Parts: sequence; structure tokens; C-alpha cells
Amino acid sequence: MELKTMINVTKIRQDFPILQRTVNGKPLVYFDNAATSQTPKIVIDSIVDYYTNYNANIHRGVHALSQEATDAYEEARIKIQKHFNAKHSHEIIYTSGTTHSINIVANGFAALLKQGDEIIVSALEHHSNIVPWQMLCEKTGAILKVIPMNEEGELIMSEYDKLLTANTKLVFVNHISNALGTINPVKYIIDEAHKVGAAVLIDGAQACPHVKPNVQELDVDFYVASAHKICGPTGVGMLYGKEKWLNRLPPYQGGGEMIAEVSFEKTTYADLPHKFEAGTPHVSGGIAFGVALDYMNSIGFNEIAAYENELLEYATDKLLEIDGLKIYGTSKSKTSVISFNLEGIHPYDVGTILDKLGIAVRTGHHCAQPIMSFYKIPGTIRASFSFYNTKEEIDALVEGVKKAKMMLS
Ligand code: ALA
Repeated sequence: MELKTMINVTKIRQDFPILQRTVNGKPLVYFDNAATSQTPKIVIDSIVDYYTNYNANIHRGVHALSQEATDAYEEARIKIQKHFNAKHSHEIIYTSGTTHSINIVANGFAALLKQGDEIIVSALEHHSNIVPWQMLCEKTGAILKVIPMNEEGELIMSEYDKLLTANTKLVFVNHISNALGTINPVKYIIDEAHKVGAAVLIDGAQACPHVKPNVQELDVDFYVASAHKICGPTGVGMLYGKEKWLNRLPPYQGGGEMIAEVSFEKTTYADLPHKFEAGTPHVSGGIAFGVALDYMNSIGFNEIAAYENELLEYATDKLLEIDGLKIYGTSKSKTSVISFNLEGIHPYDVGTILDKLGIAVRTGHHCAQPIMSFYKIPGTIRASFSFYNTKEEIDALVEGVKKAKMMLS
């Protein structure tokens, strides 16, 4: 099968220095993109440029370096606002990543919930979109309900409908499952939750490498993501919240720059977005996040999605030719993630052999143990593809899996 490549992969690969390296004497085949994406040189250069030329603390100094750094950081916030189509730039809060973003919202709702209120999550969640809500339930006496999944790895919407009641206050669902790649029907989930007056948080950590979310069109209350999955650096992410919700939630952390006035008698908080941004932020990270979004947009999300779909189809067909190989997550609505196992062989052993061949995959429960419990397996081998991967790399994966099967059977 020839790929109808709509993007120039050869050229794109030259943007990523790490893709030129070898691992165990073999060319690196990087298929762990759902864990973190690789970083293009333009993003790396922006970090070097910041530390070389205008490293300073922001929002604090009258001096030139501080002003330059503040301007670049705030310009990046506007890039993020535009990328997600938020109405206001102050609806974009910089965080250390998706987990931090979720915890800001969970902590804030502790002040708004009461005993007997209901929270809905889904069976497809990452632990970071389960544990904070369990902690919130412990604090408030709220009840956690779970949208079940089917064998294909899809959420069962008729069951979701039954879970929604007048007591539902919050719904938390990922846009795309990190473990299986399923694309969830988030627009339906949001609209139905709003009918009972519940707020919705969508975890976009796995969606943002593949799609360009439009928060106003989705009418979502909170949307969260990490830069490092979208060609940006680790340690920085975003929380989008509708202005009305961010104004209602109390701050997560106290500290410098999140205040309006401080005295020992009383402190008042700064306006959005600073109310949620205590402490010196990850300045170079925020700036580089903006550069990463520019880079991804210059390739184009429609082109990225089309190409990754072709990789997904090609890899699915090739892997399924291997006897005893089972794929978990077979929804028609899925992105370029393949979770699989070889009958009778532990995923970790396959991952170790693939690593010897220079092929990076993730093995284990992928921080989504309830999904593994559903399938009654300890974990899977997960290959996740990005727009800089190639059909030839998938061929290498397939050969590697065959070799592992031969060695371990
Ligand atoms: N959440 C990341 C993953 O799925 C780390 O691998």
C-alpha cells in the first residue's frame, strides 16, 4: 500500500534532531508519541534564545530584559488563546501540565460542592483524570459515577444518559484515550451535561497532537492540555476555563503575583489569569509552547490527521497479519495509537526486544489501570504514531514484533 502522503515527511524529519540518532546501533524508531512528542529544532532554539538573550523574571521588573521576557510570554498566551479559539486571553492559565490543570479545577470545586452532589468520569480515563476527583469526593461527600465502556473501547452513551441527574454537577472525560486512542463524542457529552446544569472538563492531553480543539464551538467549560505532547517542552501546559467559571473558583496556590493586595489582616487576589499563576512561571516553556503551536499549525492539523490516519490503517493491517496478535481499542473513531498484545507473552518482554532493535514503544498499564482491568490484562504494548513517522518505520515495528514472538514463544 502506498501512502497518499499529503505532507513532506522527509523534510519534516529534518526539523527533529533526535530523529537522526541511533539506539543500540539501529536508527531510532520513535513510537512513544502518546507519552511525549519529540521537539523540533525551532522550539529548542527558542529555549536557547531565551536563556542566551533575555532570561529574566516576568511581570516584575522595569528593566529591558524583564519587559522583553514578559512580552514574549504574554504573546505566547495569545497564540494559545487563538489556537484553542478561547474568547479571552485571560481564560488561558499557564500550568505545569495537564495534571496540574485538572488539580486546579478539582481543588476549586471543593469549595462549590456539597454532600450528595454527583460527578461523572469515564471508564477510559487516565489516572490523572480519576484520582483528583476521588480526592474531591473524599473532601466534599460528592459521589463519583463512571460511564462504562464496551469491548471496542468506546464509551456507552446510552449509559451516560442514565447517569445524568439533577444532582450531576461535573463531568470529566478525555477527548481521546491515551491507552486505546478512542476519540470520544465530547460534543454530545458536553451538550447533555449542560442540559442538567453540570460543568464539563475535557482532558485534551492526547487529542491536541492530532486535532485543533475549538473551545467556543464545543462550548466546554474547561479544557486542559500539555505542551510536551504537541512538540513543546515538558513542565508547561494550559488550563482553559470559561471566564465565569474561573472567576468562581478560588485560587489553587497562594504566593507572589497572584495577589491584588496583601496585609496580615486580609489578602485580595489578582484578576485572571494571574489569580491561578502563583510563583515564578516556566517562562521559556510558555514561550516555547507558543512556538510549538506555530510549528504544528504551519504543517496543518487537517494534513496531520489525514497522514496519521493512513499510518494507523497501514500499521493495523500489517500487525493483524501476525498470528496471536490482539489489538485493544478497535473503535472506528480512533487516532494513531495501537495497543496490542501477543498471546501468552508479557508486554514488557516484547517492549524490551523492540528497544534492542531501536524501536521505542510504551508497555504497561499506561496510567489507565481500569481499562486493563476491563480487558483482564496486566498491560499492553502501545505504539503511537506522529506526523513525523513513516511507513518504513512501521515495517520495522512489524518485523520487530515478529522477531520478539519467535524469541519468546
Ligand atoms: N500519559 C502519558 C502516556 O499515555 C504519559 O504515556
